[in-house]
Amino acid sequence: MSILVTGGAGYIGSHTIIELLNAGYEIIVLDNFSNSYPESLKRVHEITGRDMKVYAINLLEKDGLEEVFSENKIQAVIHLAGMKAVGESVEKPLKYYQNNLSGTLALFQAMQKYSVKKLVFSSSATVYGTPKTVPIKEDFPLKATNPYGRTKLMVEEILHDLYQSDNDWSISILRYFNPIGAHPSGMIGEDPADIPNNLVPYITKVAVGELDELKVFGADYPTKDGTGVRDYIHVVDLALGHVKALEWNLSTTGLHTYNLGTGKGYSVMEIIQAFEKTCGIKIPHSISKRRPGDIAISFADPAKAEKELNWSASRSIEEMCVDSWRWQSNNRVGDNKKGKKDEEIEATF
Ligand code: UD1
Repeated sequence: MSILVTGGAGYIGSHTIIELLNAGYEIIVLDNFSNSYPESLKRVHEITGRDMKVYAINLLEKDGLEEVFSENKIQAVIHLAGMKAVGESVEKPLKYYQNNLSGTLALFQAMQKYSVKKLVFSSSATVYGTPKTVPIKEDFPLKATNPYGRTKLMVEEILHDLYQSDNDWSISILRYFNPIGAHPSGMIGEDPADIPNNLVPYITKVAVGELDELKVFGADYPTKDGTGVRDYIHVVDLALGHVKALEWNLSTTGLHTYNLGTGKGYSVMEIIQAFEKTCGIKIPHSISKRRPGDIAISFADPAKAEKELNWSASRSIEEMCVDSWRWQSNNRVGDNKKGKKDEEIEATF
């Protein structure tokens, strides 16, 4: 029996697969490599010494999905595949609805057809919109403010309907806060195709000299130093959260939603300082205007995941900075982009 990981070559996926392989699971990866590279899976293999089966297909290809489900005995699915750039989703909403909704529906239909009813779904703290208070609990009101966020919220709602219709399903919805950091080996990490939108990938590109300076988006928020506050979580802690959620899914039925965060908030200035201190590199930065759509402050109440999944994040902000930096300094532009994207990859790494 295997665990199917969609979007397995991506940032969250590759780290999650390492932890799943380390825990002894058999893994099948489904990825269209639209925003990731086969190289990351080769590196996962090098790190763990374990093999996995890889299908280079798009969720929208019905025949491809049919092949994956008919050729393998799949026990559970961890669904991470999806597009995630907020700005792009505003410009190209139909592309986001097509990929994140139609692709997801096709996956759920295949699961239903083959009676695979155990699912971990990657959602996002973005579904809380602008929270009235912090820390944010899972039962706070939900309101997405852009097409990307709406696709996450819509899939959450679809899952509630699905569970209502068939209580044999076992579903965990994981709402990620701000994943940063990289595997401590420095071999895999976040690798945005273009100029990064997110804070830490931007900082590491400035640190390595690929970008000149960081623009701090607003210093007039009602926060400790005026800059935005977020709950940054080490991607390895996040990956371990998926393993715990999967264990829960395999042992029972039901639908549960969990915040995956640390419960601590750091401001942009605090992140710059932590990075400068732990990595010994100055990050040139200047204050610019607020980024439209940003909120002042967001951090999780992770108590539910701790109580029910026996999971909590343990890695410090310093480890997050050092690991992000190790990954970035080991992997200059294009290093990890080896391997043809368009080549038909159906292989075992
Ligand atoms: C972003 C996404 C959100 C997603 C989350 C998880 C947007 C608007 N939101 O959230 O949907 O769920 O990532 O990865 O993209 N900042 C700067 N300068 C920069 C970049 C960021 O000052 O160059 C600040 C932001 O204003 C914010 C903080 O850094 O206060 C974190 O930003 P970012 O890493 O983009 O994450 P979020 O805005 O929380």
